Amino acid sequence: MRFQTLCLVVFVTTVFGDDVDNETLVTFPDDFKLGAATASYQIEGGWDADGKGPNIWDTLTHERPHLVVDRSTGDVADDSYHLYLEDVQLLKDMGAEVYRFSVSWARILPEGHDNRVNQAGIEYYNKLIDALLQNGIEPMVTMYHWDLPQKLQDLGGWPNRILAKYAENYARVLFSNFGDRVKLWLTFNEPLTFMDAYASDTGMAPSINTPGIGDYLTAHTVILAHANIYRLYEREFREEQQGQVGIALNIHWCEPETGSPKDVEACERYQQFNLGIYAHPILSENGDYPSVLKTRVDANSASEGYSTSRLPKFTPEEVAFVNGTYDFLGLNFYTAVVGRDGVEGEPPSRYRDMGAIISQDPEWPESASSWLRVVPWGFRKELNWIANEYGNPPIFITENGFSDYGGVNDTNRVLYYTEHLKEMLKAIHIDGVNVIGYTAWSLIDNFEWLRGYTERFGIHEVNFIDPSRPRTPKESARVLTEIFSTRQI
Ligand code: NOJ
Repeated sequence: MRFQTLCLVVFVTTVFGDDVDNETLVTFPDDFKLGAATASYQIEGGWDADGKGPNIWDTLTHERPHLVVDRSTGDVADDSYHLYLEDVQLLKDMGAEVYRFSVSWARILPEGHDNRVNQAGIEYYNKLIDALLQNGIEPMVTMYHWDLPQKLQDLGGWPNRILAKYAENYARVLFSNFGDRVKLWLTFNEPLTFMDAYASDTGMAPSINTPGIGDYLTAHTVILAHANIYRLYEREFREEQQGQVGIALNIHWCEPETGSPKDVEACERYQQFNLGIYAHPILSENGDYPSVLKTRVDANSASEGYSTSRLPKFTPEEVAFVNGTYDFLGLNFYTAVVGRDGVEGEPPSRYRDMGAIISQDPEWPESASSWLRVVPWGFRKELNWIANEYGNPPIFITENGFSDYGGVNDTNRVLYYTEHLKEMLKAIHIDGVNVIGYTAWSLIDNFEWLRGYTERFGIHEVNFIDPSRPRTPKESARVLTEIFSTRQI
């Protein structure tokens, strides 16, 4: 649906009420893709198997184990490096049409750059992709889900702009080896999350304390790397391979604490600082960072005594190069926050720059994760915000899910999925938002980063004590199987 049509639909439904019948409202569109998602470091294990190089999560979990709450690692995790056929079987049993997984960069390029390709790594993903296709499941590949080769971190990691080139070279290896069979690509997963890994030394890998600087430098390199990869695909691969390239961004819905214009603006800034920082350069008509981001970081930098803004600038050529580099937008959506106008924390800080104070409503149902409360209506609002802001682009929900402390009777997860899917279908059928697919996070319980194995997101339970890592469907897997087969909720 074109954006003008979307506006018309919104106008008509607001003025005349919904004319979508109840049956349609709970049915997925015909070509809508349903499936589940994982990521390499969280499930694969085989951390040093068959020539894989170390990455920043190997380093963090081995050298600073206290940063992970249960001092666990992804050394073995779900052992999907050996048990991938079991994962494919779970997907098949569920009737999944698509499987989103990520490639471990250091398994393919042990030293990060393409001087040496590890053939065993290529073989592993070849076998996984072939098994998926033989079972009628479409592979969706994330190129980077946070496991940077340590050798590239030794160069400074993402704040070093040279990584935009290394990422392009890595992508060329992926397109050349897998692009004949992989047609759905995501360049990066949640750069918003890993930019913070360069802003605090108590956080995610590589856990480096340069707030308000390392995070913006990371964002800048990542945006250029994403564009390099997209343009590379256009130049060298698209004609022959006919695939699609996007990026997976994450955002919480921000509900203003009061109806006052100041709080409404604070939430608007929240959207621009967290989603717009990536989405605006890539998807908006004019490209570049959102103007509110530029103005506020430039002003804060000056008042803090920096001679140059902490936010790097794109040249006009770079703005044009980055703009439009998407075939679809990947969206990870989990929860909502309440926002009000205000500033807290010590400068320099990206959060101070944003100028919004964020909390959550204690009435919203909790999960095992401190940041995740259940707010399904926020999903519909967020989808509408994106459609309005960026001209209704195709959106693929690359993640959505709920954490608990384990067990197969996961009633709260079942509720989470059904409520979120219902809101998503309202956004599609009533509001005209162009959502094209959905992969649940996650196919299996896995290593939840700094929370180790204490928080479980899987729709299949994994026994991490048993060396054979048995997988068992939870109630949520049964319910999703039913939804996938009837294509209705
Ligand atoms: C988003 C991340 O992409 C994924 O790796 C993580 O496990 C989930 N959020 C849950 O926190």
